[in-house]
Amino acid sequence: MQLGLGPASEQAFLRGVWSSSSSLSFCGRNSLGNAFQAARPSCGAVVCIAHDGEPGGSDREHDAVATVLIIGASRGIGLEAVKAALEAGHSVRALARSARRIPIDHPKLEKMAGDALEMATVKRAVTRVDVVTQSLGVSAGPEVILKPTRFFSKATRVLVTAMEEAQVKRLICVTGFGAGDSRGRGGFLYNVAFHLLLGRVYDDKDVQERIVRSSKLDWVIVRPVILTDGPKTNAYRALVDPRDWTCGFISRADVADFLVKQIDDHAFLHKTPVLTT
Ligand SMILES: NC(=O)c1ccc[n+]([C@@H]2O[C@H](COP(=O)([O-])OP(=O)(O)OC[C@H]3O[C@@H](n4cnc5c(N)ncnc54)[C@H](OP(=O)(O)O)[C@@H]3O)[C@@H](O)[C@H]2O)c1
Repeated sequence: MQLGLGPASEQAFLRGVWSSSSSLSFCGRNSLGNAFQAARPSCGAVVCIAHDGEPGGSDREHDAVATVLIIGASRGIGLEAVKAALEAGHSVRALARSARRIPIDHPKLEKMAGDALEMATVKRAVTRVDVVTQSLGVSAGPEVILKPTRFFSKATRVLVTAMEEAQVKRLICVTGFGAGDSRGRGGFLYNVAFHLLLGRVYDDKDVQERIVRSSKLDWVIVRPVILTDGPKTNAYRALVDPRDWTCGFISRADVADFLVKQIDDHAFLHKTPVLTT
């Protein structure tokens, strides 16, 4: 489902937001210090001055590559993250109960069908990976509104335990605008609708965030605003200052773009950016 404006006006609007924004939070690639295998430039040199600054040169070819576990990979943000991670040259292990139905085939993609609540499955999934992204979701339906859930907290407890045991440090975890200290910051209408429709889900996302924050992991908690199935625009902002937080829309493809950028960029380490256009 596409929310928001029509594609042309939406993109014009987004470009305007992007170019006029003073709060862009990307830092470039200045803080890696990672242990991943460094990809060489196409000329074969370890570092090549000639390729620096070329379109698709230093940014793409000199990047580090990693093995990434994407949890919740069969749909939505997770599926977009699979595509973006492969495009960036990473190896991907894609975990979801319906992982076999992921409509992508790629030599660097391993599809792993399994339940994120099962410790044995998750322990297997974190074996020999460098980074984990988690973007689990529950199906929309009356029970989401009416019944409390513990799905997010349970799955995250399992994941943190498995990662700490396997000494996999880097976790990029999607919760949502309204979780933790971002609750109640979306304006009156959003807050009322949020409370009625998503209050129970976000009660559990609060617990999920507390589990991540109190772990020993190198985490980033990513809080997108309302999701759309629109295209990747790159015209989004990652806002860490609560004074900037506001509700809006962002495409799943843009959220995925941000997740994949966090694989080898530590600018948002131990931060809880709100993602919006
Ligand atoms: N909708 C919004 O506007 C909005 C805004 C902000 C944040 N968010 C949050 O963003 C996240 C992603 O949402 P989305 O709509 O992009 O994704 P989604 O369509 O809800 O996809 C959820 C993924 O989780 C997997 N999953 C669910 N239960 C699982 C289990 N027990 N074991 C393994 N995998 C499981 C699903 O695969 P299988 O079913 O194949 O297992 C699927 O790949 C959610 O946490 C959502 O709350 C949503």
